[in-house]
Formats: sequence, structure tokens, C-alpha cells
Amino acid sequence: MNILSPTPFRSGVHTSQRHDSAEKHVSGAALYLDDIPSPPDTLHAALVLSPVAHGTLTAIDSSTAAAMPGVRAILTAADIPGKNEIGPILKGEKLFATDLVEHVGQPVALVIADTMDQARAAAHAVTLAITPLPAILTIEQALAANSLLCPPMILTSGDADAALAAAPHRISAQFSIGGQEHFYLEGQIALALPGEDGEITVHTSSQNPTEVQQITAELLGLEFNRVTAITRRMGGGFGGKESNASWVAAAAALAAAHTGHPVKFRLPREVDMVATGKRHGYLIDYTIGFDDDGRVLALRARTAANGGHSMEHTSAVMTRTLCHIENAYFIPHVHVTGLCCKTNTVSNTAFRGYGGPQAVVVMEDAVLRIAAHRATTPEAIRTLNFYGGKGRETTPYGQNVPQPLAAECMNQLMAKSDFARRREEITAFNATSPVIKRGIGCVPLKFGISFNKPHLNQAGALIHIYSDGSIRLSHGGTEMGQGLFTKIAQVVAEVFQVDISKIRLSATSTAEVPNTSPTAASSGSDLNGWAAHAAATTLRTRLVAVAAQHFGVPEDDITFRDNQIFAGPDGSNQSMTFNELVKLAYLTRVSLSATGFYKTPDLTWDQASLKGSPFFYFTYGAAIAEVAIDTLTGETRILRADLMQDAGKSLNPTLDIGQVEGAFVQGAGWLTCEELWWDKEGRLRTAGPSTYKIPGSRDAPTIFNVHLLEDSPNTANTIFRSKGVGEPPLLLAVCVWTAIRDALAKPGQVVSLDAPATPERIAMAAAT
Ligand code: MTE
Ligand code: MOS
Repeated sequence: MNILSPTPFRSGVHTSQRHDSAEKHVSGAALYLDDIPSPPDTLHAALVLSPVAHGTLTAIDSSTAAAMPGVRAILTAADIPGKNEIGPILKGEKLFATDLVEHVGQPVALVIADTMDQARAAAHAVTLAITPLPAILTIEQALAANSLLCPPMILTSGDADAALAAAPHRISAQFSIGGQEHFYLEGQIALALPGEDGEITVHTSSQNPTEVQQITAELLGLEFNRVTAITRRMGGGFGGKESNASWVAAAAALAAAHTGHPVKFRLPREVDMVATGKRHGYLIDYTIGFDDDGRVLALRARTAANGGHSMEHTSAVMTRTLCHIENAYFIPHVHVTGLCCKTNTVSNTAFRGYGGPQAVVVMEDAVLRIAAHRATTPEAIRTLNFYGGKGRETTPYGQNVPQPLAAECMNQLMAKSDFARRREEITAFNATSPVIKRGIGCVPLKFGISFNKPHLNQAGALIHIYSDGSIRLSHGGTEMGQGLFTKIAQVVAEVFQVDISKIRLSATSTAEVPNTSPTAASSGSDLNGWAAHAAATTLRTRLVAVAAQHFGVPEDDITFRDNQIFAGPDGSNQSMTFNELVKLAYLTRVSLSATGFYKTPDLTWDQASLKGSPFFYFTYGAAIAEVAIDTLTGETRILRADLMQDAGKSLNPTLDIGQVEGAFVQGAGWLTCEELWWDKEGRLRTAGPSTYKIPGSRDAPTIFNVHLLEDSPNTANTIFRSKGVGEPPLLLAVCVWTAIRDALAKPGQVVSLDAPATPERIAMAAAT
């Protein structure tokens, strides 16, 4: 598919429409928040951060800072008129620390000044008196001290202990898997504009404008109706702007309310990296039992996540971990304990995959070990253990897997990628290459789509048709580069059978669509697509009535096609343009504005027992990566990657392929080069691009073949039978980790390797 070809006339669903902002993105014309012209009296804000991981805060001395040029105000918890509260799920998290600091980089105060440089200089001049307390900095330390954010979360099905005891073979393993910085290109930012009677409008780079509205209102002691949160687009969110954006925006609003001026608050990269949460690092240990063939009989596992100093999203992330522990495999007896560890580090948050990636590695590690133990191939072990067949269709949490497609994806991909031949070539290559070693890895994937919390699975939309026939579309979803706005516009274009260019998307605003869920859990197009479909269908029904009356035909004889309306038994006797019909509707006083609402049906979830059917459907995939490693330097190259992702009947194949490519490279970064490193004082020492290595263009696979599963049999009633695609392909990158381990291993052996598989780790593993 050539994305540079002219846009086809057909602009509804299942067509590769260009991202609505593609040209603006690459030419620099897209307005990111910092590009919005700010009013002349705009002030700027900067944070004062704790330099200590854990301690009692006894005094804040801002006298020097207050006298510095341009400084207007220095705000602390005492200046908050409402609640000092930013907890997204559970309450009890503070915007500004009061008597206790709990991590390096924790916000304590906010300096407001005429310019950003003045604010930042003054923030450095604020001194904090802190009496240090012992700090818990790692998962291991938290486990030793039993420092947990909530009681252990336990998922069980069957009797894992008995089944393990009875299993012919058992293997135990332990490994750690690092966290990940979001590294969105546009950092956290907000612009708050004060209005009348305490009203505040906040422009926010947020996946979750409703949470921005609510947290801002509560912080300022206002009813929600006085706060409007607006997001046109983000320069990337990846989960990092699901909740962290809320406190950034609320702080800007507090500053605006306090000074009566517009306030822009932009976090410099190094502050963004220490003050906002990341993907959770995990420590995993498990015992797996299997029979002589390698069929898995039971799994007992402990997954411990570094939650940081507060709960934030951790228990929800852990819930997804527990619901993905078996990946694409049926396991009859399971006992998994999820531990949300409390440490004195920044509170970790949502990140593409949301605990799923850290779960999938468990079984992929086990598959390698079982294969070596049974002297067979990992592929054979996978085939034996996939979901499917009688008595092999229920997940450990009790949901049925009606259409398992992981095996199908894997088989198609093995054939397409010439796996068997390359496997032999790699073995032959390694036999004669002492320093450079090659390896190949595979991963199948099953990923549940929906928020685990049923109430979040709802969405709204608002459509106005103006009397000239142009359409304005608002919905509750946010655009972060993934192309959601384009997909929703395609849905509306499909309902009216008009050109997508007739549809103008407005920025996401809490004043247009209220009480929205975050754009997350890959469900943006599922939820908002149906909501927009509902609104458009309401309007179409009204327009049909106008047309039927005008032409004197039954409503069933009205059809919409190619920007026109046709009337008559054969659907084409008489016609008028869409614009003419809209004008007629206006003149006959028919409302041309409608809302739409959608809630995902049939979801059940009991958080206490961790049982139910929390997902509307599953999406599937498979990936194969071939790598080369240098055993002396530890460097890696991904020579080739072949991916297969199930996107259902894709709303927009080009956008979906882009999502798969981007997610895979982001996942490969997580598992190879991106390493978060804290020193013994709990200071993040990889707080910038010079020390924190994200993948560059040379780190993408040299040969990169991405396929969407053709004719995906999707029985779930999703919007035009499409499937969510935003997060699942990140998990496909697990095959890079297994490929590196394959390169390190002698035939028939397994090498343990913590992630990220950095050059140091690879070189050390090669040396032993
Ligand atoms: N793609 C781009 N370009 N930028 C992003 O920030 N976020 C990802 C994914 N793809 C992201 C992205 C995450 S974490 C999610 S949950 C989904 O997009 C959200 O959008 P969707 O529900 O519309 O897929
Ligand atoms: Mo995505 S981590 O669900 O924002």
C-alpha cells in the first residue's frame, strides 16, 4: 500500500485514509500545546522537587527565591484552596508533599514567574529542610521489608500445588524486567486560562481530559462545571499522559487561579523524567509443571511490581498482568501472586500494554526452558499448549476464549518468513562464527481488549451539521498520534456516505462531551467509534425523514451514496446533494445536532476474586525476530522482524500497520537499550536522552515485514468488526529478547537474561 498515493474518493471505513494531521506533523504546522499563542500576560511555572528519597520535610525556605527577578508567587500545599489530592484511582496522593517526602523528584512547591527561565532559576533557589529516613529503593528491598501498596493479589484456578506435586517435570526460574520511560516527544505541558467567577480553562496534553477537569476542580474547590479541559493532540502519550498530565494541568490551574494570569507550565525533560511515573519494573519467579511431551500442567508464579511511593495505577496494572499471565496458552492449574511493591521512587503508571508485557514474558521464558528440558523446539512446545479444543478454552480468571487465533497467526507467519530454513542457516552460521552470533525468537500473542474496570467502558460523541452541509465531530477520545481522529471521522463518513474532508474534528473538550474515560486500553476506536456512529445514525434518521417527505417516497427508499441522497424504489429515481438535504432540513426546522453514547456490553469483573469476563474480545498476533549479537561488545542488531497482528477488519490498514511498527520498536527499546538506573540515594541517573537510550532509526529491524491478519474472523460486535491495535503489538517485541537468548545459547541450552538486554548484560552473559 502506497501511503503517498492520492486519497481515494471512497473515504469510509476499511480504507487507508491518511492521518488527518500527517502533513501538519511533518511540516511543523500541527499546533502542539506550546504552539498555541498564549496571551501577553502569561506567566510561567516551575517545580521545586525533593532531592531526598525519603525524609521528614520540616521547612521550605523560599525567601531567596521570592526576591529573584520576575518571581510572582511560590505556592505550596498551604496555598491549595480545595483538596491536595491527585490520586487517579485511589485517593491519598498529594500534588505537593507536606510533612513527608517519598521520592527524589517529588513536587514540593511551584514557582511562578514572568518567564520560564526565571521560574526555573528561582525554583533551584528554594531550599528544603529534610531529615532523611531509611529508603526502600528496589523491589528486593520492598519484598524483604514487606513494603506493599495493597494486600497481595492472588489469581487461582484449579489446584496448582497439587498439580505441580503430581507433574512429571518441574522447572523454576527467576528474572527481572526493567521499567520504561515514556519519552513522548512532547513533554508534559499545560496552559491554564482564568475566567469569570473562578472558571478555569486548561489546555492540556492529556489522554484523559475528564480526569484533568476533575482533579483541577477538586484542587481548586470548584464544581466540575467551572473547569474545562481541552486537548487537540499530544506529541505522544503512551500511557504517560493518562494520569500524570492531570496533576501537571491542575498545578497550572492553581497558579492561574492564584495569580489571575494565564499560566503555562512545561516540564523540562529532566524534570519530566524524575517527576512523572514510568512503566513498572518487575521481579518474577515461577515454577512450572509439565508432562513428558512438554504439555503445561500447572503454573505457580509471583510477579512483583515496583509501584513507587503511591498506588496511582499500580493495582490496575497488576490486574492486567494477572489476566495475561498465561499469554496464549491454556494452563489448567494456576496460582499467581501479584505484589504491588511500595518503594521510595516515583509512582509508576500506565505504559502501552499496561502490565501485559511484563506478564507475557513469564510463559515465553517457560517455553524456552521446557523445550530445552524435553530436547525439542520452543515452536513444538507452543503448538502443544495453545488455547483451543474441548476443555481448553477457559482463562485462569474464568473468561472463555471463543476464537483463539494465536496459533493461526504463528503458523501463517512461520510460513511467510521462511522460518525453518532460516533456523538451519542460523545454526550453520553460528558454528563457524566465534564472535558474532545469530539467534531467532518467536512470540505468539493474545491480548484482552477493554478496561478491566467495567464502568470505564463507555463513551460519548457530539455531532453538529451546519447549514452548509459541513460536519463537526467531537468525541471523548484523544489524539496522540495513533490516528484515532481519522478513524472516527471514517466511521461518520461511512454513515453519511460523504467525503471525509467534509468532517472537521474538534479538539477533545470536557465542555462538548462530558464524563469521558481516558483514551487508553487500546479501546479508543471501539468506544468512541460506536458513540460517533450512534450520533451520526440519529442525524441520518432525521435526514432520511426530511428526504422522504420531500420526494414523497417511503423512508426505506432513501439511500445515501457519494455525497448524495437518492430516492425511489430502485434508490436512484431522484436525487439531491448531501448539502442540499441539510439545507432543507434546516429550513424545515429539524435539529442538526445529536449526541451518541455507547457502553460495551456483557462485561463482568470481580476485583476481589479476580474472576469474570473483563474483555469484550481478544486480539491476537505473532512475531519472529532474527538478531545478531557481538559477544565481545554485547551490541545487538535486529536483522529481520516479521510481525502478524490481528486488527479484525481494520478500519484503516495503513494507520494500523503504523501502530504495529511503532509499538514493536518501542517494545524492542524496552527490552534492549532503555535502562532506568537509580543510584544508591534513589536519584535517577538516566534522566535525559544522553544516558537513557531510546531506539533510533538504526535500531529498527533492517528487514521489517508487517502483516495484518487477513480475513480475521471477528464475532465480537465491534465497530465495523475492527479490533483495537494500539498496545498489543508492543508485546510482540518479546521475540527480540528470546532471539538474543537464542543467540547466546549453545544448541539445546537456555541462557537466563534479565531485561533490558543491554550490551553489558549480553556481554556478561556471553562471557560466562
Ligand atoms: N501511538 C502513538 N503514535 N502515540 C501514542 O501515544 N499510545 C498508545 C497507542 N498508540 C500511542 C500510540 C497507547 S498506550 C494506547 S492505550 C493507544 O494508542 C490509545 O489509543 P487507541 O485506543 O485509539 O488505540
Ligand atoms: Mo495506554 S497504556 O492504555 O494509555
